[in-house]
Amino acid sequence: MNILILGSGGREHALAWAVLQNPRCDRLIVAPGNAGIAMIAKCATLDILNGGAVVQFSEENAIDFVIIGPEAPLAAGVADDLRSAGILVLGPGQAAAQLEASKRFTKEVCDAAGAPTAAWARFDAAEPARAYIREKGAPIVVKADGLAAGKGVIVALDEATALAAVDDMFAGEFGDAGAEVVIEEFMEGEEASFFVLCDGETVLPIGTAQDHKRVGAGDTGPNTGGMGAYSPAPVMTDAVVEATMAQIVRPTMAEMVRRGTPFQGVLFVGLMIENGQPRLVEYNVRFGDPECQCLMMRLGAQALDLMLACANGQLDKAQVNWANDHAMCVVIAANGYPGAYEKGDVIAGLDRLRADSFAMMFHAGTLKVDGQMAAHGGRVLGATARGATLREARDRAYDLVDDVHWPGGFCRRDIGWRALD
Ligand code: AMP
Ligand code: GLY
Repeated sequence: MNILILGSGGREHALAWAVLQNPRCDRLIVAPGNAGIAMIAKCATLDILNGGAVVQFSEENAIDFVIIGPEAPLAAGVADDLRSAGILVLGPGQAAAQLEASKRFTKEVCDAAGAPTAAWARFDAAEPARAYIREKGAPIVVKADGLAAGKGVIVALDEATALAAVDDMFAGEFGDAGAEVVIEEFMEGEEASFFVLCDGETVLPIGTAQDHKRVGAGDTGPNTGGMGAYSPAPVMTDAVVEATMAQIVRPTMAEMVRRGTPFQGVLFVGLMIENGQPRLVEYNVRFGDPECQCLMMRLGAQALDLMLACANGQLDKAQVNWANDHAMCVVIAANGYPGAYEKGDVIAGLDRLRADSFAMMFHAGTLKVDGQMAAHGGRVLGATARGATLREARDRAYDLVDDVHWPGGFCRRDIGWRALD
């Protein structure tokens, strides 16, 4: 079959790499892709937020199956357009993508489903929001309702920070995304990510992970898109997974069915776990990046079978063949990230790297310039490896990192520290 993947990050490179291992894939196109993806698949220029354009491209290229990587095309309704055109697609329609696109929507669904999450209130004006913060006190969490590229959440340790966040949001710092604000109870505990496929009815867990959002060693400094991840997450014991499925995921999926907008696609369940009890932090309606790199490393060729079963409504017949393995992804970013950074540095050594089912350098932000691979983003590479133990996966991932020569880049040296300690 002919497959189209939408997106251009390390997540999509990992998806492409896994899909290509499956003999059911005859031809793969990634739009827009990146220079690393171009080494393994055809990349095409396409406005992936324009559903009409994606449908037309799919028809012209005889695409049988579309995998949507990022949230923006999902929130824009691209999956609906593909389904209307009779093209198989992995990803929720616009209505179900609200689980990521609106924090208030998710909180309402959780309340209706009885899913444990932080106590919350919503505001569309600053004064009542400020009064609520003064009443509740800090620590407290202030969130822009809409999509804000991962930047719309302020975990305020003191009242002044929370009040300032409210003012910034209503002053338009996050544009329309901040026209409505959700204020939440601060939850203590350990964070973990849980990934499931849902075909509208059946829910199939496909892995757990933990990521490192902060830029600095020991999980300090500003937030980023993610500096590294590993899978599985030790905190996600069988009992915690079972509780998450029973109390959070299944009731949420049932509530989506009840509303007439069943969820079909990848559900990324962000959790806070305290004393073995999971509570929902957030949903995303797609794979995480860099969590996806770890999951694809572990699932390999079967990832395509699972995604097809999801899109076909046949998850009840699917199962994951788990290997007893561990994976880690270490992100290499441009110096200065998540602040301002330079583009255009040549990265040496990439053509001599180990590349097999145990170690792969996924590209997130590279561009080929005069035949040489150059840095072209904040997060640029994701050194990803697996092993029988997390330590083995870690050593292989850092071997990849150390074989790359790029003085303009940096990585964290302590990915996985919580699990390895
Ligand atoms: P989100 O974009 O909703 O994932 O939020 C980003 C990060 O903020 C999360 O990964 C958590 O680390 C933190 N966070 C969000 N909501 C809460 C909460 N209610 N309590 C504690 N931390 C939170
Ligand atoms: N790594 C977190 C995310 O993709 O949202």
